[in-house]
Amino acid sequence: MKEKAAAAALGHVERGMRLGLGTGSTAEAFVRLLGVRVAEGLTVDCVATSERTANLARELRIPLSTLDELPELDLTVDGADELDDRLRLVKGGGGALLREKIVAAASKDMIVIADASKRVETLGRFPLPIEVVPFGLQATLRAIGSRSRALGLDGTLAVRQAAGGGSYVTDGGHLIVDAAFGRLPEPEALAETLNSVPGVVEHGLFIGLASAALIADTDAVIHLVPA
Ligand code: A5P
Repeated sequence: MKEKAAAAALGHVERGMRLGLGTGSTAEAFVRLLGVRVAEGLTVDCVATSERTANLARELRIPLSTLDELPELDLTVDGADELDDRLRLVKGGGGALLREKIVAAASKDMIVIADASKRVETLGRFPLPIEVVPFGLQATLRAIGSRSRALGLDGTLAVRQAAGGGSYVTDGGHLIVDAAFGRLPEPEALAETLNSVPGVVEHGLFIGLASAALIADTDAVIHLVPA
């Protein structure tokens, strides 16, 4: 299903486009399909949202630039951990939310590709990833906890661990806090609150960034635009 969504997104790529390449298994399926088209002669110029995606793009000989070289992009194609019908997203399960958000914000359009399991009525089933600086971690955790409780949100704040032990460290040298708040009926308010915590670099709520979503289930790929 991930591949079906990725293949549908490829239909939106045109010759000469400046593309943002997302991170995660669904985005990887898109990058692999794009690699085939590039090998066949499609010309595009791409910016990767993570070192992992950049390595894959290099392997597939997809032309890569930095976002400083290409500060305005036509289209970003990326996955999501969950999305609602207004195309508000939770992202960051793969730890790349900061670069993903910077790249999405620099793009005219962002298409989300996902299988149908990612579609939810209300965000919050997936713990919200929050990227924080290592300095003052405990103070930042306390501030996130108290400010989110003021919004009626409570839940465990877990510092993400790396597979090989120790804290998971992002491409930007930061940590990820996974916040299990549960249902998020007002993600805009939470986004604003998290943005006000000094140690928070960015959070995984992507609001007003996605222009469309291609959701694959067993029968078809549904094209969603913000409700
Ligand atoms: C990466 O940081 C995330 O935002 C991914 O886009 C998200 O976790 C979706 O990944 P999958 O496509 O692997 O489910």
